[in-house]
Amino acid sequence: MRSHYCGQLNETLVDQEVTLCGWVHRRRDHGGVIFLDMRDRDGIAQVVVDPDTPEAFASADRARSEFVLRIRGRVRMRPEGTQNPGMPTGLIEVLAKDVEVLNTAATPPFQLDEHGKVGEEVRLKHRYIDLRRPEMIDKLRLRSRITHSVRAYLEGEGFLDIETPILTRATPEGARDYLVPSRTHEGQFFALPQSPQLFKQLLMVSGLDRYYQIAKCFRDEDLRADRQPEFTQIDLEASFVDEDAIMGITERMIRQLFKDVLDVELPEFPRMPYAEAMRRYGSDKPDLRIPLELVDVDDLMKDVDFKVFSGPARADDGRVAALRVPGGARLTRKEIDEYTKFVGIYGAKGLAWIKVNERAKGLEGLQSPIVKFMDGIIETLLDRVGAEDGDIIFFGADTARVVSEAIGALRVKLGEDLELYTREWAPLWVVDFPMFEDDGSARLQALHHPFTAPSCDVETLKANPVEALSRAYDMVLNGTELGGGSIRIHDQAMQRAVLDVLGIGEEEANEKFGFLLDALKFGAPPHGGLAFGLDRLVMLMTGARTIREVIAFPKTQSAACLMTDAPGEVSAEQLKELNIRLRHKPKVGDDAS
Ligand code: AMO
Ligand code: AMP
Repeated sequence: MRSHYCGQLNETLVDQEVTLCGWVHRRRDHGGVIFLDMRDRDGIAQVVVDPDTPEAFASADRARSEFVLRIRGRVRMRPEGTQNPGMPTGLIEVLAKDVEVLNTAATPPFQLDEHGKVGEEVRLKHRYIDLRRPEMIDKLRLRSRITHSVRAYLEGEGFLDIETPILTRATPEGARDYLVPSRTHEGQFFALPQSPQLFKQLLMVSGLDRYYQIAKCFRDEDLRADRQPEFTQIDLEASFVDEDAIMGITERMIRQLFKDVLDVELPEFPRMPYAEAMRRYGSDKPDLRIPLELVDVDDLMKDVDFKVFSGPARADDGRVAALRVPGGARLTRKEIDEYTKFVGIYGAKGLAWIKVNERAKGLEGLQSPIVKFMDGIIETLLDRVGAEDGDIIFFGADTARVVSEAIGALRVKLGEDLELYTREWAPLWVVDFPMFEDDGSARLQALHHPFTAPSCDVETLKANPVEALSRAYDMVLNGTELGGGSIRIHDQAMQRAVLDVLGIGEEEANEKFGFLLDALKFGAPPHGGLAFGLDRLVMLMTGARTIREVIAFPKTQSAACLMTDAPGEVSAEQLKELNIRLRHKPKVGDDAS
């Protein structure tokens, strides 16, 4: 039906006849001549319809915003003075010969260029209109280029694209499952996969050697800007590899992707142990674009006459950390109060600070609610953090967990607020994670998942599980965890030991993933892998604020789809078939008891 996309037109086509199909972006009536800005997924082109072509003119006269038209006409240069060099097609226009109205359109719920005036809810409810906006189309186009580049790279490396089931059993990734009732097995449920983890390991046992999949994953967890209940992973697994091999393959993949799609040469990917990341940045996904670092001062604070500091400084699980912010002395009292409130979100009970107005003047040159307690140590403290005139130094004192989270988050917020970024892209690998975490419940939890191999032997693991490190690795970019993976356990004795530490008995293990434990008996090769969050990757590469912006049909914070109104009620008949009785009566249908 068309010869060109609107956005493809340029001055090389002058005098040629073209046929465009698209939507009326804007219609202007200029005293007898009608201008139509025609839009399709490639851009916008100006069409001129004059009364010399009466039929075309009548159709154009009838057209309104978002009508669907087919236009045949001749490309010509726009008259001098009306050219718009800011627009890709701004030098030319199309003089219409035929204008055919292919479809009319009701008045849209919002004008595309006025989307900012309506809330995200309206945009999500009419997502098909929202997706007409060029910036949304650009994001989806980039997403498609990203998956194309990734597929080409992985295929080139010998990875096979293999699909794994969606109706399956629970995957132990730590989130709540989405369940699907089985009609044919009364009282039983499928779980949607939280990841293809179990299946990709089974594919390695089968000898497929290198697997990848762009896989839908489902997790019923609390949503944030970078989390959706249904999201996509670039998932891969390989046999006869160690961590260097997987990290090498995936790092080259991301490097090539950035080169292909954004023409960006990523810098080196440093490798940082988890413990160092927590110590220096208070986070296991540090944003290395920000030059601020946490500095431990526990040793200096043990004997100060300020219990808020000396308590945590002496406690085994305590931490007192300082964060020096160059130029921060200009922060107002109000701003400091705001930051104090901000760290409160992470459980911090306060935020002490010292403003360094003029170091040469000693105590006189400092301004702070706490220096009065720092007698005798103040110079050592200032030297330790490298204080200079004009700085502010913030302090957190609490359990190590609270201090790292609170001051780590403060670091990121200050980086944003004070625009401290030193570069555009800061990738790194975080390695040497602990195997287990103590979340205060009776059992230790797997930090990654229970199939991750420790870097020690079975005896050492059993003797001191809390100290054990894993062979897991996370790729972090600009403070976002892009992907994570590990070398897996391929040995039954080690798998048993890890499950023992997790307090998962034989019966529970067999019930939950006995098929994987069984498979390990039948010649499982050493193997490992990694999964990237595709949505997060696209978010970073497009500069979007949330992953909702890069998903065609995303869900809201409460895990609902405003457009389809999912989840929805089902008929009593369907429930009956599934042998499900609701505790509250369904509103639709009334023929089942
Ligand atoms: P993990 O649970 O770390 O590992 O997930 C891998 C990556 O998936 C992304 N991600 C999400 N993205 C959007 N919304 C969510 N709710 C969400 N949850 C996770 C993140 C994360 O880094 N099977 C293992 C991988 C492996 O060991 O190979 C796994 O799923 O970017
Ligand atoms: P106070 O003596 O309670 O008024 O506190 C003095 C200063 O220490 C104030 O700036 C508080 O915000 C700060 N503060 C209180 N508790 C903590 C804490 N746990 N960590 C860091 N600073 C704190």
